[in-house]
Amino acid sequence: MLSSKSLYLSPLLKADLPILFQWINDREQVLFNAPYRVVSENDHREWYESIRKRKDVVLLGIRLRRGMKLIGSCQLHDIHVIHRTAFLQIRIGDVRQRGRGYGTEAVGLLLRHAFSDLNLNKVHVFVFAGNTAAIRMYECSGFRKEGRLKQAAHIDGSYVDLLVMGIPKKRFSLTAVGPNAHAGTRSGRFRRAGTDEKTGTVKRGPRS
Ligand SMILES: CC(C)(COP(=O)(O)OP(=O)(O)OC[C@H]1O[C@@H](n2cnc3c(N)ncnc32)[C@H](O)[C@@H]1OP(=O)(O)O)[C@@H](O)C(=O)NCCC(=O)NCCS
Repeated sequence: MLSSKSLYLSPLLKADLPILFQWINDREQVLFNAPYRVVSENDHREWYESIRKRKDVVLLGIRLRRGMKLIGSCQLHDIHVIHRTAFLQIRIGDVRQRGRGYGTEAVGLLLRHAFSDLNLNKVHVFVFAGNTAAIRMYECSGFRKEGRLKQAAHIDGSYVDLLVMGIPKKRFSLTAVGPNAHAGTRSGRFRRAGTDEKTGTVKRGPRS
């Protein structure tokens, strides 16, 4: 289990499946970050059984420390042992819990796991160009835009661009929880926001 000031990241359990099923079938929410299709309970169970067997995926539930309530999920997927890369995804499924810093806090924890425990060197995300909340949250977490795939996704009747964002271990180390976190002159939104070295928790700073 990974823990920070407000959150635990821990494996998803069978008991979590009903709420995940509700979130994955909420078309308006899914459209922010994925192609939508109706998922049956059977498909959902099969997805859970197959994903937990995959060695290239770490799938975790995001839980509030207080009460252990599940508010979302996040994952590292396509973990590549030679390149030492992975892709990251996150969803705060409980929409009432968005905009409270939990997304940034969970991504900080997952990145620390990726770099410190799994010895990855680089983490990427694909994000729809219009998903301003996610882009901002990734920037707050130290990701930078690295490229744009034009009209790479078909969402809600239109083709949209996909941004590729990335964070190398070196930047995460310098800006967040590494040994030089408070040394040197490196700036950046993530660093300026301030990060608790022990927990990886990003303290939110003023909007830049
Ligand atoms: C993207 C997501 C995980 C962000 O989580 P969150 O807990 O709401 O984000 P945070 O509270 O940590 O906010 C981080 C930053 O993003 C900004 N932000 C959050 N929601 C925003 C919005 N709707 N519009 C603009 N900025 C927004 C915050 O203001 C904050 O920046 P600041 O510190 O400069 O003020 C959440 O909105 C979500 O689950 N969305 C649906 C799934 C999704 O899009 N996942 C990403 C797939 S690539």
